[in-house]
Amino acid sequence: MNPHARFECRRLYPLIFFDFGVQTVLNKSIMHDFIYRGADLYAEDVPLEELGREYGTPLYVYSKRTLVRHIRAYGDAFGGAQSHGDQPPTGGIVSFALKANSNGAILRLLASEGAGADIVSGGELFRALRAGIPASKIVYAGVGKTADEIAYALKKNILMFNVESDEELEKINRVAGMTGRKAPVALRVNPDVDPLTHPYISTGMKKYKFGMPMEDALEFYMKARRMENIEVVGIHEHIGSQITQVAPFRDALEKVLALMERLRGSGIKLRYLDLGGGLGIRYRRGEGEKPPLPAALAKSLLPLVKGRGLTVIVEPGRSVVGNAGVLLTRCLYRKKTSRKRFVIVDAGMNDLIRPSLYGAYHEIIPVRKSRRAALKVDVVGPICESGDFLATDRRMPAVMPGELLCVLGAGAYGFSMSSNYNSRPHPAEVMVDGGEHRLIRKRGTYRDLVRGEL
Ligand code: LLP
Repeated sequence: MNPHARFECRRLYPLIFFDFGVQTVLNKSIMHDFIYRGADLYAEDVPLEELGREYGTPLYVYSKRTLVRHIRAYGDAFGGAQSHGDQPPTGGIVSFALKANSNGAILRLLASEGAGADIVSGGELFRALRAGIPASKIVYAGVGKTADEIAYALKKNILMFNVESDEELEKINRVAGMTGRKAPVALRVNPDVDPLTHPYISTGMKKYKFGMPMEDALEFYMKARRMENIEVVGIHEHIGSQITQVAPFRDALEKVLALMERLRGSGIKLRYLDLGGGLGIRYRRGEGEKPPLPAALAKSLLPLVKGRGLTVIVEPGRSVVGNAGVLLTRCLYRKKTSRKRFVIVDAGMNDLIRPSLYGAYHEIIPVRKSRRAALKVDVVGPICESGDFLATDRRMPAVMPGELLCVLGAGAYGFSMSSNYNSRPHPAEVMVDGGEHRLIRKRGTYRDLVRGEL
């Protein structure tokens, strides 16, 4: 890994657990619905020990209660989650970013709370529709949409394409012509604002591939307006992910609103203002940044937008699912060298790649508390790579083989970024609801590994 990138992540990931619930408001150190009762860690009312026994490990576990609380926090803040069904929404629209987690059970739950979807591929469109998310709340971003994907989205009447280049606009116009439809488009602009987050998950700066420069926007819209099969409906920005301050959002919005004024002067009126996602969560207890709640974000942003006749769209991913999910893993072995102590667990970078890829910090806590002394360890997986770790130089109570560990904050970009590397089947996923739990994705099998091979 690029050592500079590692340094950046260490510096920029000092984040603590985050929940939109009462706990955070009261500023207590408990978080979400993964909480100790006595010595045992529970997911809502279910001991995680029981889930590990019943479903095996590695295992993703989600809390329905946390998910519902989070999506409602967005609905309340931005005013759109209440608009059920396929009706055109009247308030704002909360379009959940599927890339964070696209399990059908989670999507169905969010759909039932009125959420829309932010998609970046035909596959995500398929998943969103299958879960009952209305096309009228689906926005489609991404720099590389193919003709097939565009045609699919047109056929399904999505709310709008967030267009990222001139050539893409031309292609959408052509495909729309062939399918006999008018394509609703928004331009994704790049407001060139530093989101103060990890470079790999920054997007809204000029050096990145996303969006179009603000100064090209007028020309883009003029061109789009002349196109026969294009309907200009909105503008889109997304500046990055795991952003823990309001200021970058506000700076970006101010720039976009100033641009919209100029566009208006040239007769371009837009209906939708898509602010993207990116609100951070707390990954670490103790000191550190405190990401704002959706309500605080709304309070800072919405007054700027008020009275302009715009429907606001937000695209949260991480802040909805991140702390609603954990990864359960079992300790297989311990190993001590002259330099290090290792705790070898049955989850690897193929199951949760964030620590390896971004140097991201995930809290790891025992499922059963012990009184053993703390040791400094690397928690590593079974993958044949030195970069396969869930934590490095972490002080935690000694762990014995057979014991369960819980990796917190794994609900977003956990399962969705997992792979079969080293021919390891995908982990199973379970949803907890009060005292009940159910499998929402079966564990992968060896057969699954070779499916499709000829
Ligand atoms: N909208 C757009 C256009 C996006 O590109 C993204 C995320 C989102 C919304 C959702 O952002 P969120 O609310 O989740 O921050 N794999 C990385 C994160 C990549 C984010 C990519 N885009 C990680 O694990 O940190």
